[in-house]
Amino acid sequence: MTEPSPSYRVLVGITGCIAAYKACEVVRGLQRAGCQVKVVMTEHATRFVDPVTFRALTHEKVAVGLFDDPSDPIHHISLAEWCDLFLIVPCTANVVAKLACGLADDLLSTTALACPAPLMVAPAMNMNMYAAPAFQDNLAALRRRGVLVVDADEGYQACGDVGRGRLPEPDAIVARALEALADPPAADATRVLAPQDLAGLSVVITAGPTVEPIDAVRFVSNHSSGKMGYALAAGAAARGARVTLISGPVALDAPEGVQVVPVRTAREMLEAAEEACLGANIAVFAAAVADYRPAHPADRKLKKGADDAALDHIELVRNPDILATIAAAKRPGQVVVGFAAETDDVVENARKKLASKHADLIVANCVGDGVAFGQDDDQATLVTAAGDEELPLMPKAELADVILTRAKELGR
Ligand code: C5P
Repeated sequence: MTEPSPSYRVLVGITGCIAAYKACEVVRGLQRAGCQVKVVMTEHATRFVDPVTFRALTHEKVAVGLFDDPSDPIHHISLAEWCDLFLIVPCTANVVAKLACGLADDLLSTTALACPAPLMVAPAMNMNMYAAPAFQDNLAALRRRGVLVVDADEGYQACGDVGRGRLPEPDAIVARALEALADPPAADATRVLAPQDLAGLSVVITAGPTVEPIDAVRFVSNHSSGKMGYALAAGAAARGARVTLISGPVALDAPEGVQVVPVRTAREMLEAAEEACLGANIAVFAAAVADYRPAHPADRKLKKGADDAALDHIELVRNPDILATIAAAKRPGQVVVGFAAETDDVVENARKKLASKHADLIVANCVGDGVAFGQDDDQATLVTAAGDEELPLMPKAELADVILTRAKELGR
């Protein structure tokens, strides 16, 4: 039999949410991997799962109240110093807020504040609470301080809603915890952090192509890789913004700390953008939206021969212009950024687009022949009402930073 992995010590913190029952499986999973586990619960958590369950699983006293264990007058310090990782699962919006503020009004939050080990939180809550700007700002504050976050899953929620906020499966949480134990973040927490100049701002980004169905298997689309939009989302999140990334189908991982809204068609992208942009400070439309879609998509596969009439001539209709629609309803102070990917007269076309679409900034770049699409570098000219700024060829991550800086300046 293979030996379990080294005996890491994990303090599991459980807070008051229906997903608390899944913490039993997390504790078991950590133990199966060879970890020693102790549990600390909030008072509210004990309403969902009785501490007796965790005492039976861990063979340890379960810590709840600050003054519960007279044999250990400074229980929060001994727990905090005992563990190699403090994993709070599930972590409620309330506890995320307390951690963000440094509140220490019960045993769990006091232990978290006193804990020199890495802290990992797995938030779980109703989708509207999860999307609430106050919660997202608090979570962003934790990430900035180096707290490890297990992003919530999307799906069916205990309250009956379907959306983001579900606790991921226990196995996935255990895997993240073991990763962190094997490769802990630097103990001195000297993470190189980007300047937090976008903290408090809400940024919406569209990315990737849209796909427009011809029938059940065929579609009209384009070569967009989504790299530029994903670089913008990652850059904005790293600089402290609350980011919603509305993405067509791409082969890229979601950047850390970004809420991704997956879409397929232009009309789905417009609907998601209209909702996300309501409270946005900056909206960047980096998606390569298909300008046209088949007018009569079939819901089955059209057959060569039998359906030649439908396949020989595919009637196309114009898709809505997402950028122009949003920019037309722009609030004062809201900044709208578009892209102009052209093969000819790039800057001139970008200037026309700036005016016709009522954008504040157009990023003009040349496409075709392996340029821009799918590449990691890009050469762009930024076009605003104040003039043009020709940038050198640079990695898309750097270009993203310049675009975000200019967008922020335009919003002042
Ligand atoms: O008009 P054109 O497609 O060249 O404009 C490109 C810019 O407009 C990009 O920022 C793109 O994301 C946006 N766009 C859009 N909806 C469309 C077409 C383009 O948002 N239907």
